[in-house]
Amino acid sequence: MRILGIESSCDDTAAAVVVDGRHILSNIISSQLKEHAPFGGVVPEIAARKHVESIGEVIEKALTDAGLNYNQIDAIGVTARHGLLRSIVVGAAAGKALSLSLNVPLVGIHHIEGHIYSNILEHGDSIRFPHLCLTVSGGHTLLLLVHALDHYELLGRALDDAAGEVYDKIARYLDLGFPGGPIIDKLALEGNSTALDLPRPMLHDPGYDFSFSGLKTAVIRQIEKLQRAGTPIPLADVAASFQQAVVDVLIGRILRAATVYNLSTVTVCGGVAANRGLRSALAKLAESHSIEAFYPPLPLCTDNGAMIAGLAYHKIMSGAVSDLRLDAQANAPLGISGVIYK
Ligand code: KG4
Ligand code: ZN
Repeated sequence: MRILGIESSCDDTAAAVVVDGRHILSNIISSQLKEHAPFGGVVPEIAARKHVESIGEVIEKALTDAGLNYNQIDAIGVTARHGLLRSIVVGAAAGKALSLSLNVPLVGIHHIEGHIYSNILEHGDSIRFPHLCLTVSGGHTLLLLVHALDHYELLGRALDDAAGEVYDKIARYLDLGFPGGPIIDKLALEGNSTALDLPRPMLHDPGYDFSFSGLKTAVIRQIEKLQRAGTPIPLADVAASFQQAVVDVLIGRILRAATVYNLSTVTVCGGVAANRGLRSALAKLAESHSIEAFYPPLPLCTDNGAMIAGLAYHKIMSGAVSDLRLDAQANAPLGISGVIYK
């Protein structure tokens, strides 16, 4: 079954064609970074307007790259849950129009469920159930027990800023550019991760929640101290020390949950799953604790249409098809058990 996946929940306009939930024929992402960079963050009004401009072209390119025409598409999957409402509406409307004109089923997908699926799209049956999934991006940091594709149990979540959001805010504070994650990640390669003495918030607290806003404040305080002393800011050391603190917290939570719930399969997904520090810490954790750890390749870490098309296949197989009344929601519970994550 050839499914066209459409994703427009934030600032990337994306479309992809995936066969039977596993084989990616095309995966097109049109980034709006240039438009949002001057503001140091995503501007919802601009995002929606750019989606309207580029969605048609992105869908056409996804079909062309897949070597298909519209009539060879068997179903449409579209992000209809979680994100910027006006952005979601653009993709949802395009999905409905195509479903109606091509007379093929329409499936509304939850953006976070799409991210969780990205590891299954890439690694297939190696991802066993139940498994532990850390979903970590600019909008959320969630630690989930994944019992099945539509059955999630929330273990922990960010009580304040998401991990990616803190990367973006620190980069903005230091005038490094947007998005901050990849910039700080690259800078950290050259830095000393013990140069700054930073907290590991909530690492030893019971439970699995996260809190990164205190870490952000601690970084800013240390920078201000250096500025007052007239010392040049050692950007690479700041980046490496901050990144190490984030990674220590994320890995600490993963290890505790994997131990308590006796899970040997761990997945990480979302934009921050691209982080080199996190990936290498995960590899070490896997080796030392007999855990199998998975993350998606870079194009499937950040927002993409392939994860939406892939998951739509399983929804169709289980009979969970939408119709033209499909609505768009900025926040919606996850899965059949209705996990509330905010
Ligand atoms: O999943 P995503 O594309 O969009 C959301 O749903 O939020 O994630 C974007 C986030 C941004 O905050 C960005 O700074 C972060 O992911 N990010 C990274 C890296 N690449 C992207 N954070 C840390 N290290 C990276 N290499
Ligand atoms: Zn996302």
